[in-house]
Amino acid sequence: MIDAISFKNGTFRYLDQRYLPLKELYVETQNYLEAIEAIKTLAVRGAPLIGASAGYTVMLGINAYQGDKAGFPAYFANLVAEVNASRPTAVNLFFATKKMEAVYDANFEADSLEALVAKMTDMAYKIHNDEIDNCDKIARHGVELLKQDFADVLKSRKLNVLTHCNTGTLACCGIGTALGVIRLAYQEGLIERVITAESRPLLQGLRLTAWELEHDGIPFASISDSSSAILMQRGMIDFAVTGADRIVANGDSANKIGTYAHAISAKYHGLPFYIAAPVSTIDITMAEGSEIPIEERDADELRKIFGTQVATPTTPVVNYAFDVTPGTLIRGIITEKEAVVGNYNEGLARVVNG
Ligand code: MRU
Repeated sequence: MIDAISFKNGTFRYLDQRYLPLKELYVETQNYLEAIEAIKTLAVRGAPLIGASAGYTVMLGINAYQGDKAGFPAYFANLVAEVNASRPTAVNLFFATKKMEAVYDANFEADSLEALVAKMTDMAYKIHNDEIDNCDKIARHGVELLKQDFADVLKSRKLNVLTHCNTGTLACCGIGTALGVIRLAYQEGLIERVITAESRPLLQGLRLTAWELEHDGIPFASISDSSSAILMQRGMIDFAVTGADRIVANGDSANKIGTYAHAISAKYHGLPFYIAAPVSTIDITMAEGSEIPIEERDADELRKIFGTQVATPTTPVVNYAFDVTPGTLIRGIITEKEAVVGNYNEGLARVVNG
C-alpha cells in the first residue's frame, strides 16, 4: 500500500498528490510552514489525511521550538492557530489539533518539555494509526449495509457504484472510507464496475481514484461530473457512496463540490446515496449544514487547467471547493462504529459520544 504520508526522526514525508498519476514525487520536510503549505495546496489532501498531516505538522512546529518552558504556551497557541488556518472545511484537521491540545493541557504543568513532546508525538502517531484502523471497520459496516439494501438484486447480478473525488489510501491512510467500502465490496463479489466522477476542477476522481482502482485491478470507468444523471437514467449506476469533510448533527454532509448534484440525481432515480466517513469527520457542535464553512479557492483553479490558461485571466469565477448534501438525501452514514441510518440527530450523537 502507498504511504501517502509518514513521520520518522522528525521528518514529515508525503507523496505530492498534485502530480499524480503522472509523477510519483515524495517530498520530505522538517519545516512546519512547508507542511502547512502542502495542506493548503492539496499536495496532501482528503479529510482523514489532512487530520493526520495536521498532527505531524504540529510536531514539526514543536520540534523547531528553541525557547524555554515559560515561553512554550504562547508559541504552541500560535502554532495551532497557524495549522488551523490552513483549510476550513474538513473538520478532521480541527479534530487532530484539538487532540494535540488535549495532551498539552493534561501534561504541561507536570511534565518537562521533553516528556511533553514525547507524549504529543505519540498522539500524532495515534491520530494517523486510528484512521488506518477506522477504514477497515467502515468497509465492513458498509458492505453489511449494502448486502442488506441490495439483498434481492444481488441474487441475480453485481452492482455498479458511483463515487466522487478521492476517498482512498491517498485521502485516508488505510484502504479508504468510501473507496474502502468499494474495495471490500469488490473483494466479496458485490461490485461489477466503479464509476469515478472526475471531480472538477482538481480532478481527484479522474487522477487519483482512477489511479488507485487501476492499481488494484478493479474495473472502473471515469466520467465527467455532469454525466452521473444520464448513467443513472440508463441503469448504469445502482448506488453512490462518497466520503465527507464534515458531517453535522442532522446528517447534512459537506464533501467535494459536485457531490450534492449526484445525491439529487440519485434521489430522483430512486437510488441509495451513502456517506462513508470516520467519527473524526462528524461535528455535532453544528446543528445543520448551513453552518459549515465552505472553502472558496483561487479563481485560477478554474481559469487554468493544470497551468494552461483556458479562460481569460479576468473571467469572474465562483470556486467553492465543497458543497453540502442534506441528510434527507443520504440513505446511511457509515462510520467505524456503525452504519447510522434513520434519525441522524440521535445516531450521530450516539457514535460521537459512545
Ligand atoms: O479538496 P480535497 O481533495 O481535500 O477534498 C477531498 C474530499 O472532498 C473527500 O471526498 C473527503 O475529504 C473525504 S476523504 C475520505
